[in-house]
Parts: sequence; structure tokens; C-alpha cells
Amino acid sequence: MTENHTLTVRDNRTGEEFELPITDGTVRASDFGQIGKTEDEPGLALYDPGFTNTASTRSAVTFIDGDKGILEYRGYPIEQLAEKSTFLEVAYLLIHGELPTREQHDQWVHEITFHTFVHENLKSQLQGFRYDAHPMGMLLSSVGALSTFYPEARNITDPDIRHDQIVRLIAKMPTLGAWSFRHAQGKPYVYPDNDLTYTENFLSMLFKMSEQKYNPDPRLAKALEVLFILHADHEQNCSTNAVRSVGSSQVDPYSAVSAGVAALYGPLHGGANEAVLKMLKRIGSKDKVPAFIDGVKNGDEKLMGFGHRVYKNFDPRATIIKKAVDDVFEVTGVNPLLEIAQELERIALEDDYFISRKLYPNVDFYSGLIYEALQFPPEMFTVLFAIPRTAGWLAQWLELVDDKEQKIARPKQIYTGDRRLDFVSAEERWK
Ligand code: CMC
Repeated sequence: MTENHTLTVRDNRTGEEFELPITDGTVRASDFGQIGKTEDEPGLALYDPGFTNTASTRSAVTFIDGDKGILEYRGYPIEQLAEKSTFLEVAYLLIHGELPTREQHDQWVHEITFHTFVHENLKSQLQGFRYDAHPMGMLLSSVGALSTFYPEARNITDPDIRHDQIVRLIAKMPTLGAWSFRHAQGKPYVYPDNDLTYTENFLSMLFKMSEQKYNPDPRLAKALEVLFILHADHEQNCSTNAVRSVGSSQVDPYSAVSAGVAALYGPLHGGANEAVLKMLKRIGSKDKVPAFIDGVKNGDEKLMGFGHRVYKNFDPRATIIKKAVDDVFEVTGVNPLLEIAQELERIALEDDYFISRKLYPNVDFYSGLIYEALQFPPEMFTVLFAIPRTAGWLAQWLELVDDKEQKIARPKQIYTGDRRLDFVSAEERWK
């Protein structure tokens, strides 16, 4: 640290000055704790609901530069990974920090492939859900339930045991997700097919009926592979923070990941592509797009699938998804909603309202169209997000477990309630 990498803070209540070190563009919140601290009063704390300007960890997993539209996993640009890699190779990269050798790759794929089956009792648990149970509710409870089948998972300090649970989680998520889907349709659950790739097997468990062997169209399997790669990690978002926060209690990874699934279930996090689809259906036809855009500019509507908290130039994932749209529609036929989406994008990208506010299509603008073309009902969209994000959650969980600086997550509060009231018994109060 050089001499001028400090922040001088003057407490005007006392006139005292404090010099706080600046490291990696951050100041330690605990350093503020010495300011104004007396025997009776705690020191200064930082107030940051939603952690909008608080770094909770050091991380080497994912890099995002929102202004430049850059997303990298372990330093590799998302565009290259989406074009040249597979989801399982990307999962290896996220978890292990580097690309696998051929032997490591083959071993990894073998391990994941041969852990796709789940205990039959878990199947019974899923069958116990109501016919109309939301698949995300089924997924989050069944992932949590996995912890009871692998009690050794509680030993999070043993690297071999951690590895086994990581393999199991990445392997079994598609099985649980597909079975949640089949449950809603009243169709029998399909067991994994170990001859197929990760995404092919997922498609088989979703759509296989009476045929001996389900052979998914390789273009659809590839499109799903790309979507899985794009959704595999996104640094410290709400669900990753949930996994880290719950994981900081040193609970097993199944329980921590179920917290991530729960966070993703919320409409502010995993549900935007569903909202895009509803919006496109409501607009109805291409000629109604200008009137809809006027409504957005008047503040009556929101253009769902546009804008991002971090990306203020373009969302690199949206560019890649647009290409996948073409590939999928080549197989499924064009979704009539595509025309409306393209017209919305064309008009919005030329309009000063959207340009001046840096509003561009995000990852969700086109992903819902793909999922619908693949015959997924909207409730399944978030499940399709949770399956690949498991790799990212686990990479972040591993980092947490090995990080000597991490402690149990326990934020402070600003207490706003009453103090020292005298309790009056119910008998007295209700007289
Ligand atoms: N349509 C119309 N106006 C918008 C939109 C939109 N989609 N997004 C932002 N604005 C306007 C907003 O009204 C505000 O205008 P003004 O300055 O006149 O008040 C300005 O743009 C800045 O918006 P903001 O709400 O301060 O931006 P934010 O960073 O807080 O919100 C967002 C980001 C993603 C929540 C928001 O853009 C939005 O709600 N978009 C639609 C929902 C959506 O597509 N969400 C998916 C995000 S990608 C998923 C992921 O990465 O996990």
C-alpha cells in the first residue's frame, strides 16, 4: 500500500480525524467502527440496504464490467465459452478455477453422468406434491431434502467429501428439475440416460414418452447448452449472496443451494423472461408496437427485458442469445411473438428515451421465446436458470469455505423500535 492510498475522515462531532487504508478500491467497514466509539456508544457503522455499494467478499470466479458489457468466467470471455465450450467444461472451470486436461475432463463428465440418478425415496417425496405444485417449490425442497440422503455432506472441511457433493448436485439438478416438470403434466418420471450428454439427457427426462430411446435434436441440445453456459454464474447476485450467507453458517451445500433456489424463485431475480413473454402476448401484433412504446415513454408500461442494474451499454449474454434464437426456430418453426420482439427492439434502439437511459435488451428479452419454442411452460423458466446456476453457486460456496477472512454473515441493524417498556400481563391488559 502506498502512502496516499488512504481516506482521511473527520468526525465533525468531535473534530477527530482518522486515516483509513484503501485497498482494492474499498475501505474496511470495520475501520469505521473505531470512529466515535466510546465505552457506551458503538462506533460508526455503514448503512447499505440491498448491499448496493458494499463488497461482501473477494472472488476470483466471475468478472463483470457493466459499462463495457464484459462478462468473464475465471478470466475467459463469455462469448468464447458460449461458442467453443460445453456446459460441463464451463462448470469444471468455475469449480476448479482452470480448464481441464483431457483426463480431468473425461473423469469429470463420467462422474457427473453417473450421479444423475436420485434415491427412490426422493421420487416418492416429489410424487407427494399437489398436481399443480410450482416446479421451483418442488426443486427447492427436493434439493434441501438431498442433504438427508448424504449426511456426510455436513463435513464441509474435507475436500473429498465436498467434491462428492458438488458432483452430486450438478448431476442431480436436471433430474429433479425434469421430474418437477413431468409431475405438473401428470406424466411418469423418466430416469436419466447415461449415454446422452448433460443437456441431451435433460431433454430426454423432460420429453421422452413411449419410445425406446429419446434422441433430441442436436441443435436444440446445443442451444440449451449455450443458455446453460450463459446462466452459469453472475458474481454476487441475490441468489449467490443467499448461498454464501446461508453457507457461512457452515451448513451442508445442499441446504445452502436450496437457499439459492429460493432466492431465484422471486420475480425480481429469476422471473423476468416470463414477464417478457406475457408482455409480448399482451401487445399481440407488430402494428401495436408503436402504441406500446408510447405507453412505456409515458410511464404507463415497462419494457420488460430491457435495462440492467449492471450492464449500461449492452448485455453480452443478450447478443449470444439472439443467435441461439435463430438456431432453435430453425427446428421448432418461428414463434410468432418473435416478430413483435424484433420490432420492439428495432424501435427502442432508435428512440432517444431508451438511448439516453442506456436501456438495451438484457438476457431475458429473448430467452423466454426460446423456452416457449422448446415447449416449456413459463413456470419452468426459472428452473432452467437454477440448473446451470448451481455450478456458479457451488464455485462461490467453495471459495467461501476456503476463505479465511469469511465469518458467519451477520449484518448490523439500526434499531427503530421501543425500549424498556414495562410488561403488563394479559390478565391485566384484557381486564
Ligand atoms: N422500461 C422502461 N423504462 C425503464 C426500464 C424499462 N425496462 N428500465 C429502466 N427504465 C427507466 C426508469 O424508469 C428510469 O427512468 P427515469 O430516469 O426517467 O426515472 C431509468 O430508466 C433508470 O432506471 P432504474 O430503475 O433506475 O434502473 P435500475 O438499474 O434500478 O433497474 C432493472 C434495472 C433491470 C431493474 C430495470 O431496467 C427493469 O426493471 N427492467 C425490466 C425488467 C427486466 O428485464 N429485468 C431483467 C434484468 S436481467 C436479469 C439478470 O441479469 O439476472
